[in-house]
Amino acid sequence: MQDVSIRLLHGEALIPWLGALARLRLAVFREWPYLYEGNEADERAYLRCYAGNPKALVVAAFAGGEPVGMASCLPLSCESEAIVAPFRAAGLDPARFFYLAESVLLAPWRGRGIGVAFFAARESFARSTSLAEFATFCGVLRPEDHPERPPGWTGLSTFWRHRGYRQEPRLCCSLSWPERGGETVEHVLRFWLKPLGRTASPWTEPPGGAMLGP
Ligand SMILES: CC(C)(COP(=O)(O)OP(=O)(O)OC[C@H]1O[C@@H](n2cnc3c(N)ncnc32)[C@H](O)[C@@H]1OP(=O)(O)O)[C@@H](O)C(=O)NCCC(=O)NCCS
Repeated sequence: MQDVSIRLLHGEALIPWLGALARLRLAVFREWPYLYEGNEADERAYLRCYAGNPKALVVAAFAGGEPVGMASCLPLSCESEAIVAPFRAAGLDPARFFYLAESVLLAPWRGRGIGVAFFAARESFARSTSLAEFATFCGVLRPEDHPERPPGWTGLSTFWRHRGYRQEPRLCCSLSWPERGGETVEHVLRFWLKPLGRTASPWTEPPGGAMLGP
């Protein structure tokens, strides 16, 4: 298999790759558990926001001169209201969080440490460019009996826990996207958190108990 290089793409450096990264996202998010039926124009517009935000980063994995994976991050306060609102509603200042928006890698390149590198690069960026105390992302919740759920699918919870993240049942958001077949479906996504420094929990007095354990 070809060698893979990890590149940090900021601002203008992202522009030449908007099309390739848009297609990469569409290919991965079309699969379970997202089943996202997006279009390239929307994906390019989404990625262009990263190019226009000096506080944002895209980490890309390249093989043979083409991107085979990407992950992105930015301060939570730069995200859409749907993502930020649950934090405010829980009494948490969004400035304390750095948002890891997505990690996508084409299937043939998985299991070689690229996903680990995506998390390390984004956490390092958050630590060096912000005062955020926590890294956070959200994962979609799918019913056990969903007809498209692949048999034996276990999800990424173990991978995320091994990266130091814990799911936070008090923080969920709702996002809608078009699924295969054309219907737009509203989804619930749960946030996961990881301390970037010494503060273990965003709540000084955790209401209702500690975060879920591994
Ligand atoms: C999430 C995703 C990017 C992870 O990518 P990945 O490259 O397969 O993950 P890695 O290979 O880095 O890690 C998987 C395991 O292999 C291990 N591994 C294998 N080779 C490794 C190496 N050379 N160096 C470090 N770790 C290695 C990792 O340690 C990890 O095991 P662990 O959790 O027990 O520590 C990938 O599964 C994906 O694209 N999934 C579909 C999209 C998705 O659901 N994204 C998440 C929400 S946006």
